[in-house]
Amino acid sequence: MNAVLAADRLMRTLPGEVPVTLVQDITLDIERGEFVAIMGPSGSGKSSLLYLLGLLDVPTSGRVLLDGQDTSGYGEDELATTRLQKLGFVFQFHFLLAEFTVLDNVLLPMRRLGALPEETARQRAGELLGQFGLADQGHKRPHQLSGGQRQRVAIARALANDPPIILADEPTGNLDSRAAANVRQILHDLTREWNKTIIAVTHDLTFASAADRQIGIVDGLIDLSWRA
Ligand SMILES: Nc1ncnc2c1ncn2[C@@H]1O[C@H](COP(=O)(O)OP(=O)(O)OP(=O)(O)O)[C@@H](O)[C@H]1O
Ligand SMILES: [Mg+2]
Repeated sequence: MNAVLAADRLMRTLPGEVPVTLVQDITLDIERGEFVAIMGPSGSGKSSLLYLLGLLDVPTSGRVLLDGQDTSGYGEDELATTRLQKLGFVFQFHFLLAEFTVLDNVLLPMRRLGALPEETARQRAGELLGQFGLADQGHKRPHQLSGGQRQRVAIARALANDPPIILADEPTGNLDSRAAANVRQILHDLTREWNKTIIAVTHDLTFASAADRQIGIVDGLIDLSWRA
């Protein structure tokens, strides 16, 4: 069976007089339903790797395969549609749009993809908010919510188009301990109950210890000997 997401000799350098290597040579297979924690020292290339895996950045060489499909020849439109269909993103900072209501933020990826009629999409957005204890928050603006609530909205938004893969970059990094525990539990449930594949960059040892696999990244490379 094909991996749901695979990196094949991924490398990313920033050009310049002295080129900077963000990711050196990463090969990785992630199976459907797997929960993978990516760990490592600050500046080691974890976020850079996540952006490549999420098709938010383009590798200098190597390939990202989604369901066995090589994405390296994709143009901007195909990349954008693939991101909307297959990948959900949760970052350390929620990146909700301040001028939109909570409900509209969750609706946004569905509107962009355009696969559902508006009414069905609104209903789905409301249901997603309900699943994360936010049923009565849809009409508010993000700034009226707590940090933990905002992160749950971001998770609902990531799930809007029902993508098989969720990529998270320090999803608990900016939360107090109670909100962090709640977000950890939600993400954990997504793998175990919703069969989502989760790849999370994290410094949170409690979160990482619940993962199926921990991958250490040091100097842009997988380091099998790395221990938190
Ligand atoms: N646009 C950029 N220009 C120059 N250097 C960059 C750029 N983006 C990243 N870097 C450098 O590349 C390296 C890898 O960065 P990256 O953000 O992937 O690390 P990280 O492992 O996610 O770190 P952290 O744990 O602090 O989030 C770092 O040394 C960083 O300073
Ligand atoms: Mg980072």
